[in-house]
Amino acid sequence: MNETQELRIVVVGLGYVGVTAAACLSSQGHEVFGVDINEAKVAALNEGHSPIVEPGVAELVGAAVSRGKLQASSTLPDLDTYDLAIVCVGTPSAADGSHNMTFIAESARQIATAAARTSTPLTVAFRSTFRPGTMENLIEPIFLEAIGSNFAEQVELVYNPEFLRESTAVADYFAPPKIVVGTSQGRHSETMAILHDGIAAPIFETGFREAEITKFIDNSWHAVKVAFANEVGRVCAAYDVDASVAHEIFVSDTKLNISPYYTRPGGAFGGSCLPKDVRAMQSIARSAAVEAQLLNSLLETNASHKSFQLNRVLSSVNPGGRVLLVGLAFKAGTDDMRESPNVDLAAGLLERGYQVRIVDPFVRTSSLVGQNLGQVMTELPNLRSLLIDEKDVDNRDFDLIVLNSAPSNALELDAARVLDLRRIATSATDPTRTREHEA
Ligand SMILES: NC(=O)c1ccc[n+]([C@@H]2O[C@H](COP(=O)([O-])OP(=O)(O)OC[C@H]3O[C@@H](n4cnc5c(N)ncnc54)[C@H](O)[C@@H]3O)[C@@H](O)[C@H]2O)c1
Repeated sequence: MNETQELRIVVVGLGYVGVTAAACLSSQGHEVFGVDINEAKVAALNEGHSPIVEPGVAELVGAAVSRGKLQASSTLPDLDTYDLAIVCVGTPSAADGSHNMTFIAESARQIATAAARTSTPLTVAFRSTFRPGTMENLIEPIFLEAIGSNFAEQVELVYNPEFLRESTAVADYFAPPKIVVGTSQGRHSETMAILHDGIAAPIFETGFREAEITKFIDNSWHAVKVAFANEVGRVCAAYDVDASVAHEIFVSDTKLNISPYYTRPGGAFGGSCLPKDVRAMQSIARSAAVEAQLLNSLLETNASHKSFQLNRVLSSVNPGGRVLLVGLAFKAGTDDMRESPNVDLAAGLLERGYQVRIVDPFVRTSSLVGQNLGQVMTELPNLRSLLIDEKDVDNRDFDLIVLNSAPSNALELDAARVLDLRRIATSATDPTRTREHEA
């Protein structure tokens, strides 16, 4: 790597992502060699023309080619003088909706074979969108086969998704919403740090899988937002509501609506408002003959989540085991148990013969009234005998302690027995699930 922190970069795949990257990187002073199997794209680029239409790219390509900073070929150059290869080949949809990985596998094999002919260090960053596990299950084995078991000493593999929007891609390149750098152990990559030098954005250095799934979560979320906006827009139209005014009010709420609130994977929704009002909104749409598939799916997906949480508990304790539930109301700090997912969980465990006890310092059976009393007594008729006082909790009395909400300071819990349902953990971070895999 030279002193001016300019990199020599090969960009593989000269589509929308690759050409934009090549144009922007060469404009920053990096030396860029583009590779594409499409000869027409290669010829266009070498003549100083952009093979894609994207505002600002043609000018950057023309300037970079005339300064000798950008060239292209249909074959890879010798990699020994390059610091970095960025892979931007296509991942089109296969018939079953999955990604067709042919181009990824082929370009990875070409780079791995070329890297095997050199002994100089090389970073290979994949930008194409592909499913979690691809770096470990497809890319690493290709490099292992071509270079050998010590390939990681020469080649640093990185997954580095990009978040450009077509039509504003150049501006987005220099001001992205975030930078995500995935490596096998979430390690720092100095080459990627140089690559992103001067770009102001939050940087996440993480594992391969978290980096790989980022783009799918983002794009699914964008699709959810558009579908939601249009469904409520259609409901508004059916009821003679000005959808633009409703939208203005909706987005003005950056505390609860347009905010991280309600986005953390964890507990199901419940309580006295969300399920009731979602049902009512479904009814409002239905009675005006508005098709609202997204709204109609909400209670169903919430029910699936409750089953998922119940199964986490069931797989963490032997049949008939002793389970302490921490938190019964739909959230901490209230005694409101109407449509609380925690009540469903307790009932599900009791139904299956588990010995359940519950601590919730805010729930006093003697003070319950109205629907709050009626609903919980229907599902948990012996609630009084299930509730125990915090001060009477002895960890040794339980095989598993399930956290539905934050325990109070008065409760000292044995971490080895705790399953925290407020988070969706991986097998690496959830001790009970790890134990289950080891069994
Ligand atoms: N278009 C976007 O805005 C965008 C944004 C983020 C991520 N992505 C992802 O980035 C990837 C690329 O997207 P795109 O829109 O640029 O695709 P594209 O289809 O426009 O371009 C892909 C290019 O790769 C080339 N190619 C295929 N195999 C090759 C090989 N072995 N060697 C060299 N070149 C090869 C193709 O000829 C083509 O020119 C996809 O996975 C896509 O999902 C795209």
